[in-house]
Amino acid sequence: AEINLQEIHDLLIDVAREAGRMMMAATPSYLSSGTKKNSADLVTETDQAVEKMVSTRLLSAYPHFKFIGEETYYPGQKLTQEPTFVVDPIDGTTNFVHTYPAFCISLGLAVNKIAAVGVIYNPFLDELYTGIKGRGSFVTRNGTKTRLPLKQEPEPLKDLSTCLVATEWGSDRTGNNYAVKTKVFSKLAASKEDGGAMVHSIRSGGSAAINLVLVASGQQDVFWEGGCWAWDVCAGWCILVEAGGIMVDGNPGDWQPTMEGRTYLAVRGAPSGQKDIVEEMWRVIGE
Ligand code: IPD
Repeated sequence: AEINLQEIHDLLIDVAREAGRMMMAATPSYLSSGTKKNSADLVTETDQAVEKMVSTRLLSAYPHFKFIGEETYYPGQKLTQEPTFVVDPIDGTTNFVHTYPAFCISLGLAVNKIAAVGVIYNPFLDELYTGIKGRGSFVTRNGTKTRLPLKQEPEPLKDLSTCLVATEWGSDRTGNNYAVKTKVFSKLAASKEDGGAMVHSIRSGGSAAINLVLVASGQQDVFWEGGCWAWDVCAGWCILVEAGGIMVDGNPGDWQPTMEGRTYLAVRGAPSGQKDIVEEMWRVIGE
């Protein structure tokens, strides 16, 4: 049967707002929050309670759909062609436990492994980002819904030296992963004389989903991260593409990333220069 994307989008918004109320009512503590693989990989009772609420509501409305969520994921669980809700109950858990105001719920629907609906809600700022494949993406603030990107005529992209670039440390701080991240941070920041790209600045906001919607809206130009999961990117990917942005693989050379890819590079919508920025970022990463 035809999938009614609009109806799913409306349900996801309602669920996101309920999740937002749960997050704002919680009093997480960073001393008592649990950790997963190491001291920088946090989880709270609220992550788990929100995911439970979300999966219960979504699967009772769409019992034949699949569900992949950060807190119930198990190694070997695969995204299939079937309609699948791809959910991060709290993206930016570290921010959540510190009350740093950049955490959100990220609700995506993937169909044939492509993001078809995305809803991202930051309850602290009451900012709701939404998108439906082929129908544009929007931000709703203070009850006003605005089409993305925020600048109706975004400026051309020139080179990285004019860009605000987001990248994250993530929770993997070991070995080659850590070495690559460190190199990218320092190359992006360094002056041209020192062989760097001399970007305007680097941001590490602590939520992959918020990074993606900031690129979609044009409030930052580029986001690169190695180490994301499908639930970090599914919803934001839809919103980004609908706003004219592009998503490629974070590893140099791959213009066709997949939801299982783990590394991503997003560039905002622009009348020209998107591919030049991708290639310049890939040089920084690959060198
Ligand atoms: C994490 C955040 C963080 C990013 C990690 C994600 P979580 O999600 O998005 O910014 O660096 O890769 O896993 O654990 O807070 O849901």
